[in-house]
Amino acid sequence: MIQLTKLPTKVLYRKIAVLTSGGDAPGMNAAVRAVTRYAISHGVEVYGVQRGYNGLIDGQVEKLELSSVANIIQKGGTVLKTARCLEFLKKKVRKEAAALLCRDGIEGLVVIGGDGSFTGASLLEKETGFPTIGVPGTIDNDIAGTEDTIGFDTAVNTAIDAIDRIRDTASSHERTFLVEVMGRNSGFIALYTGLGGGAETIVIPEAPQNAKQIHETIRRGIDRGKSSSIIVVAEGKTVGNAQILSKELKAFGYDPKVCTLGHTQRGGSPTAHDRVLASYLGSAATAYLLSGKSNGMLGIQKGAVAFVPYSKVIGKKKISDPYVLKLASILAS
Ligand code: F6P
Repeated sequence: MIQLTKLPTKVLYRKIAVLTSGGDAPGMNAAVRAVTRYAISHGVEVYGVQRGYNGLIDGQVEKLELSSVANIIQKGGTVLKTARCLEFLKKKVRKEAAALLCRDGIEGLVVIGGDGSFTGASLLEKETGFPTIGVPGTIDNDIAGTEDTIGFDTAVNTAIDAIDRIRDTASSHERTFLVEVMGRNSGFIALYTGLGGGAETIVIPEAPQNAKQIHETIRRGIDRGKSSSIIVVAEGKTVGNAQILSKELKAFGYDPKVCTLGHTQRGGSPTAHDRVLASYLGSAATAYLLSGKSNGMLGIQKGAVAFVPYSKVIGKKKISDPYVLKLASILAS
């Protein structure tokens, strides 16, 4: 459970903006709502930037009212739209974006996204002095400096729901299934899904396994009477990891079925946990920004909110604990 501690009350700005960037994550809307309503209730105007950093380039910035964020706390996706904006990698573009924000009298920016989004925010602040603050929003939970990210809990619940359904048919047909979940650089979704879904084994980028190792796990299960298996596979660098493993497993006499959950994990109504996390982090980021803190992200550390400078977040690897993998394997034996 997240500890909901008191937030700073100083208000130094009159106008701020908010954007969502990178892959969408369930709970981003709850965060946008929190930023908007927290700021307005403290006498601050809020502007919504459309399509991530693209909106800063082409001026798609609109004033948000209390009613603009009504009825969105329960919705997946992001009402502000999102994008991975390659143009923002250019210094000249960032300078123009800061000029546009200043022209409109906007004094600070809340960025809801992941590592790439924070890189853009950090460079914008470093080069132009424009204050930015980050809210970690990604289903991958791969952001350093925070134990949790908005969307992770929902994605894991979605994947576990799929596994429960797959288990019914796997068990009826006595089959082996490879279920591929998202997580390009990290195995958090796979680990938590595998542990919570009772998978026979879990393949993650941090601890890859070859077909022979998977075969040995399945074999041990068969020897003790199992007639079906579920293997959770993180997509890794290239989507299709599970397809590759499935082909390789054929050499060991299996005919595994593959189910790639893909973008189903990115959509859907956020869980209660993600709504609370997003509401709290969105409010905290706004409170910290208004009180003069910037150049960092609001994360969760030891269950409580913490301000983490971008320098301790960007480009840093958050490694999943190999012990979870070991535990999942003990419990699946
Ligand atoms: O970063 C979130 C994420 O969902 C990853 O898990 C996944 O690899 C990637 O985004 C997919 O991105 P896109 O929707 O652009 O294909």
